[in-house]
Amino acid sequence: MIKEANTQFPVHELIKKRWSARAFSGQQITQEELFTLIEAASWAPSSVNEQPWNYLYAFHDTEGFSKMLDLLSVGNQLWVKDASVLLMCTANKNFAKSGEFNRHYMHDMGLANANLLMQAVSMNIYGHLLGGFDKVRTDDFFSIPDHQEVVCFLALGYLGEAESLEEPFKTREVTPRNRKPVEEIAQQF
Ligand SMILES: Cc1cc2nc3c(=O)[nH]c(=O)nc-3n(C[C@H](O)[C@H](O)[C@H](O)COP(=O)(O)O)c2cc1C
Repeated sequence: MIKEANTQFPVHELIKKRWSARAFSGQQITQEELFTLIEAASWAPSSVNEQPWNYLYAFHDTEGFSKMLDLLSVGNQLWVKDASVLLMCTANKNFAKSGEFNRHYMHDMGLANANLLMQAVSMNIYGHLLGGFDKVRTDDFFSIPDHQEVVCFLALGYLGEAESLEEPFKTREVTPRNRKPVEEIAQQF
């Protein structure tokens, strides 16, 4: 509850409930649940319906999971190790038909991830986006071609107890979230 958004306006419960958790329980996400999340992502809007997104996933306790974990920053590794699923979010930078640069690829990958996180929270699954990874090693390990970009990783799991974390993560897990007020981010024109 401490993490629930304290909003100025009547925002939807799912949006209030989502937050970037670090403590994950041992409960594992099933393949069916994961595909439900990924399908939710796929229904995001994208520029000319290009759908530039791609997800490479690895379940806990697999070789793939260990390899992905190893590509993350050390600070992320400390708690991502207990996630149930790790995803690598990669986007195509060019339009498939024309080959021309799609300047919206990052935006659209983000929209897909937002859909995924909302679907997840509706199923009591929490996601944590991760920009802290070694881009050079990741591109090298997965032989990422020039027309693709690894945008971020995403850790998913059921909520665990803050006590299971080391500091400073334990304190962060029980600190309320905050946002800039609406008046600061929106101006009437
Ligand atoms: C693109 C992106 C990259 C992020 N990278 C990291 C990261 O490497 N490690 C981390 O602990 N949190 C990361 N975060 C989580 C943000 O810190 C978090 O979303 C922000 O503090 C707001 O908190 P909330 O999601 O709980 O509302 C990232 C979030 C985004 C969107």
